[in-house]
Amino acid sequence: MAYDKNTSFNDLPDLPPLGFTESPELLRLLAKGYRHLGELNGLCASLPDPQLLINTIILQESKDSSAIENIVTTQDELYKAAIEEATANQAAKEVLSYREALYVGLEKMKAQKNLLLTNTMVEIVQTIKQNKSGIRNMPGTALKNAINGEVIYTPPCCEEVLREKLAALEQFINDPDLSALDPLVKMAFIHYQFEAIHPFADGNGRTGRILNALYLVQQELLSQPVLYLSSYIIKHKTEYYQLIRSVTEKSKWNDWIMYILTALIETTQLTTKKIRTMLSIKEDYEKQMKEVLGSSFSHELLQLLFTLPYLKIDLLVKRELAHRQTASTWLKKLTAAGIVKPQKIGRTTYYINHRLMDLMTSN
Ligand SMILES: Nc1ncnc2c1ncn2[C@@H]1O[C@H](COP(=O)(O)OP(=O)(O)OP(=O)(O)O)[C@@H](O)[C@H]1O
Ligand SMILES: [Mg+2]
Repeated sequence: MAYDKNTSFNDLPDLPPLGFTESPELLRLLAKGYRHLGELNGLCASLPDPQLLINTIILQESKDSSAIENIVTTQDELYKAAIEEATANQAAKEVLSYREALYVGLEKMKAQKNLLLTNTMVEIVQTIKQNKSGIRNMPGTALKNAINGEVIYTPPCCEEVLREKLAALEQFINDPDLSALDPLVKMAFIHYQFEAIHPFADGNGRTGRILNALYLVQQELLSQPVLYLSSYIIKHKTEYYQLIRSVTEKSKWNDWIMYILTALIETTQLTTKKIRTMLSIKEDYEKQMKEVLGSSFSHELLQLLFTLPYLKIDLLVKRELAHRQTASTWLKKLTAAGIVKPQKIGRTTYYINHRLMDLMTSN
């Protein structure tokens, strides 16, 4: 039957696509992709405390990824929320849920022999949405043009069909013998397929972007899930939407894969640069803090400044870094030396690692 964008696409073929061959241009990009990915992974592996800097990178990716859905939240709100979840606004909470979902997915994958399974996908979306939504079991989901409401795509329906398609995707992801395809090409295939299956009522884009990062970890191309595709996808969103359609309607796989590879190359370069700059800021701060604090220099304080760039006295006390008096003295000294900048919000004064924040917001 001919493809019809208004009818549930239950004929969506399983992967791999028949008759696909990589164009020479794609092969060149692929080599470049591996080079940059390798550089980023090497850098992550060499970090003395990878969780520290990576947490900030992942928080940034969470913000960008959530912004595709127009959950706009400011950096201030976000970092304050990161230390005070209870009082966070809804937008900031959604960003934190995205980050949590990434970690939940990672843990689940590791616990399940490194397999990426349908139940993990469900858990990811439930964590993002903070509800118990499952695989769609009602018809009626269609992707529409936001401006004129015209239907762009109608995904398969309903639960039984979706589960079959997810099971086939699961097999494609996890079975190394199923195809002799290159892992990065496979990632682009998987991303398309997951979006085309569109198993959930909402959150398919965000879940799909988390799956990309997890897949690279599964393939041991990254030791940490620091793939930062969302900023690129936001900047080139029209093209992204149009290329997905061209795969569905015209099997234009090469263009789609090259788009994903270009996103990967640009964003891994950016992340590598950011991590290097973070490291050098951290070195500067360490030197300055040793001068300013002398024998009371605290390594934990330095670490905390790079995990949560918004500090407050209470947090230092809560983390048992120091008693209130000492914490207050430290932060005042750091302020006087220009290492942190104070900002009063309500009754609380936050001490901001402004160089790190400037770096994070410069995309
Ligand atoms: N024509 C299409 N066919 C299949 N999938 C599509 C098509 N157009 C867009 N998509 C996918 O649908 C996603 C949006 O779906 P959904 O609203 O469920 O996800 P989300 O996470 O809430 O949103 P967003 O991706 O905007 O953050 C897009 O990110 C894109 O990957
Ligand atoms: Mg949505």
